[in-house]
Amino acid sequence: MDIRIEKTIVPKAKPDWEHLEFGVDYTDHMFIMDYTQGTGWHDARIVPYAPLVLDPAAMVFHYGVEVFEGLKAYYAEDGRLLLFRPDANAARINLSGGRLYIPELPEEYFLEGVQALVGFDRDWVPKLPGTSLYIRPFIIANEPHLGVRQSRQFQFIIILSPVGAYYPEGLDPVSIYIEDEYVRAVKGGTGFTKCGGNYAASIIAQYKAKDLGYTQVLWLDGVERKYIEEVGTMNVMFKIDGEIITPALEGSILPGITRDSVIKLLKHWGQKVNERRISVEELQQAIRSGKLEEAFGTGTAAVISPIGELSILGEQYIIGGGQIGELSQKLYDALTDIQWGRKEDPFGWTLEIK
Ligand code: COI
Repeated sequence: MDIRIEKTIVPKAKPDWEHLEFGVDYTDHMFIMDYTQGTGWHDARIVPYAPLVLDPAAMVFHYGVEVFEGLKAYYAEDGRLLLFRPDANAARINLSGGRLYIPELPEEYFLEGVQALVGFDRDWVPKLPGTSLYIRPFIIANEPHLGVRQSRQFQFIIILSPVGAYYPEGLDPVSIYIEDEYVRAVKGGTGFTKCGGNYAASIIAQYKAKDLGYTQVLWLDGVERKYIEEVGTMNVMFKIDGEIITPALEGSILPGITRDSVIKLLKHWGQKVNERRISVEELQQAIRSGKLEEAFGTGTAAVISPIGELSILGEQYIIGGGQIGELSQKLYDALTDIQWGRKEDPFGWTLEIK
């Protein structure tokens, strides 16, 4: 793929590397590629980071036709610049896009775009422990049209943001509120996709949880409101009586790449992982009988986020003494050792940007 490059003439000041927050700072450049019906994807370019010029009638504004991805780049101690499983994100953006009737983006365009942009803005990749460059690729429908139909124009854009921990708690356990009023998704809907609308509909519940003193919400299934689905920005796992359980992918939850990596790591260590339905009742019983050993979330932004407190239908429970569990810590270490290139990568998950 030919990528036209227009370098900024006014480089921005770099952020305070010691105090990086999530999603606040953006690098000097962005990648853009257009899609036009009949022509396909074309005109790949790296240009100075700037506001987009969009027609107010662009379909993304009215019908939310948008899908996105999230992945990270890391600087290894030996100076290698690494991506973690970008091929999985390239595949997933098309899984999401397919549901929103967005034309397929060839995976090589996604991968070349990400590598070219991160390589070009490599002096923005943070080096301090726990920091990384968050990569946000997304596709929007930018045709000006108010009828509800497939857009004839799209843009694939990548922006980059140097980040610290997603939750201010870092690796300290977060508190989670089980949401029983609003639902996130139902089978047949868009729950398995990374589309903006899923997150837009979740914000109200996030604030409800926050007002009650919790960091995030845990969603229940949209039909029976009985089975656990996922946390606001993460998949969720439980260790009950030695057994690791995570909700199965049945169409309404996100097929998380960190979720998949954790399952592969656990299996590699000889641990059994049960991908199945788990009800709130089962969880409550496990807590009451002292069998719930650990609960944690998994996600690109959050990595591994231990859950130290749960609110279930008005009852408060402390998990694992409110401390990070042994398995959560082991998974965090193993995953970040591979991501930061500190240890061998037996799965071939990392891709070096030359
Ligand atoms: C990610 O983990 O990359 C996500 O997309 C979560 C995000 C909504 C902050």
